[in-house]
Amino acid sequence: MRILILGASGRVGKLVVQGALARGHKVTALVRDEASLASVAAANADGALTIVKGQPQDKADVAKAFTAVPNDVPVVVVVTLNSSRTSDNPFAKQTSPPTFMHDAHVNVLAAMKTHGTRKIVTLQAHGVAESYSTLFLPVKMLVRYSNMGVGYKDHEEVEKVIKQSGLTYVLARPARFVPGPSAPLHFYGNKGEGIGSLSTATRDSVATFLLDAVEKDDWDNTAPVMSN
Ligand SMILES: NC(=O)c1ccc[n+]([C@@H]2O[C@H](COP(=O)([O-])OP(=O)(O)OC[C@H]3O[C@@H](n4cnc5c(N)ncnc54)[C@H](OP(=O)(O)O)[C@@H]3O)[C@@H](O)[C@H]2O)c1
Repeated sequence: MRILILGASGRVGKLVVQGALARGHKVTALVRDEASLASVAAANADGALTIVKGQPQDKADVAKAFTAVPNDVPVVVVVTLNSSRTSDNPFAKQTSPPTFMHDAHVNVLAAMKTHGTRKIVTLQAHGVAESYSTLFLPVKMLVRYSNMGVGYKDHEEVEKVIKQSGLTYVLARPARFVPGPSAPLHFYGNKGEGIGSLSTATRDSVATFLLDAVEKDDWDNTAPVMSN
């Protein structure tokens, strides 16, 4: 199937692109810098990867991504965008606009409705919405008082517009990312009950989950908290 990926230049996004191509899917990637996918494109020169240059918060760019390949609109959308800061430090300066991920979703959900694209799989985080209650107390403080809170607020607005759209969704809520290979994930429901205080997940594991969620309906209309 054809999968449209927003955030394909990011760390999880690139893994999703590579994984999708390895599973035999066709991929449309909307990126603001085509060079960010140059090595992936060089390794996949068979036409399965279509790179569209544009901004997710630009409605026309998102619309262009849906029709980039004639008569082959995306069947599923995967979003791995981040509300970025100058570094992963919770207090680092915010660089993405505060409603960046929300605005991108408004555009993508409208285009999905126009083209009959049935499902969206979005990377969120443990701590969003009802899963805030199961965060480790120090992490709760960071979400509340550091610049991490900007991204969490944006994730919550994303969740609202996705649910309001009536489209099929999967909202992945992984624990804190650590480096490492793909490994089995454990799931803790939408709220995260039973997850350990210091649980982590590798980006590879989460990329694998996002693609499993594309292919199977097991997690449709849920927001599972997960960790390795
Ligand atoms: N860090 C953690 O421990 C953790 C844990 C659980 C969940 N998460 C979630 O995982 C996601 C982050 O994944 P990641 O590590 O793969 O992120 P990443 O490497 O920082 O990738 C971010 C993506 O967002 C794009 N982006 C950011 N700001 C943009 C802007 N203003 N305009 C256009 N594109 C923009 C980037 O594009 P460019 O390449 O063009 O900049 C890139 O494709 C977030 O949603 C986060 O909440 C993180």
